[in-house]
Amino acid sequence: MENEDEEWIESPTGWGPKEDGHDVIDDVGLPDIFASDDPTECFTFRMRVDGTTTPKTVRLHGYKLDSDETYRSTGVTLWQASPRLADYLGDHPEVCGGKSVLELGAGLGLCGIAAHYSGATNVVMTDGDNRALDRMRENVRRNCDDVGDASITGRNAIACRQLIWGKPHAGKFLERNGKYDVIIGADVIYTRESVQPLLDTVVSLLNEPNGQFVLSRFCRWNNVDDDIVIKAAKMRFLDCTRPSEGIYVFRWSDEKNSNAVDEKIEDFR
Ligand SMILES: C[S@@+](CC[C@H](N)C(=O)[O-])C[C@H]1O[C@@H](n2cnc3c(N)ncnc32)[C@H](O)[C@@H]1O
Repeated sequence: MENEDEEWIESPTGWGPKEDGHDVIDDVGLPDIFASDDPTECFTFRMRVDGTTTPKTVRLHGYKLDSDETYRSTGVTLWQASPRLADYLGDHPEVCGGKSVLELGAGLGLCGIAAHYSGATNVVMTDGDNRALDRMRENVRRNCDDVGDASITGRNAIACRQLIWGKPHAGKFLERNGKYDVIIGADVIYTRESVQPLLDTVVSLLNEPNGQFVLSRFCRWNNVDDDIVIKAAKMRFLDCTRPSEGIYVFRWSDEKNSNAVDEKIEDFR
């Protein structure tokens, strides 16, 4: 699967002010001329492991927040929402324990690795960006023993695949991989344009009726307020609860009716 990735870099010319003023990530500014020459960074995280009292130290290799690499591909550094979601999954092992888990926009891969260690039966971490996928695959190889497909290894497995958000890619991904009990995402909403394709992807790949989409967001990049996200989810029959600060859990609403979904989304656009 790894060699079938298509070429996709999140922002080949880098992030910055665009004409409509939307695509601006304030904290990823121009490179600091006083910064160290070495753009790489190792992020260390202590993780609870399901069924043991000994925490696991996970080391993720990526790039500094203010590096040129991050300026083009946000997924090659670790964002604030990721350690918080990883903590949440560790504190609530019932969320991923015994479940199939899909991560969207996984970047360096911390949350998927946390889901793996909190007892998920099968974790598939995804990203659209080739550079992020390279880093993610390397980090999974370094930090996880059971890399592969659960149906082959018969053990808890973790794999990395490319998934670009939106209905066309999600449809193909569904044919190959099926649906998931839990979908997770950290810091994956930072442009208005990404809200619809991200949620379309969730709707395509989330198991019914008990699937959950767990989203972690702490920064409101580009003024993408919670209301925008919650309303777009509601149009897709996903109801939101907020079990703790920055954590949003979306579940299928009782009124879900597949015939009405597409009409409702069209109304919203
Ligand atoms: C801000 S980073 C967050 C990375 C990681 N979840 C974290 O919190 O450290 C956003 C991630 O979403 C991915 N992404 C953005 N737009 C995407 C799209 N349309 N399809 C797939 N991945 C996308 C980026 O490549 C990047 O890895």
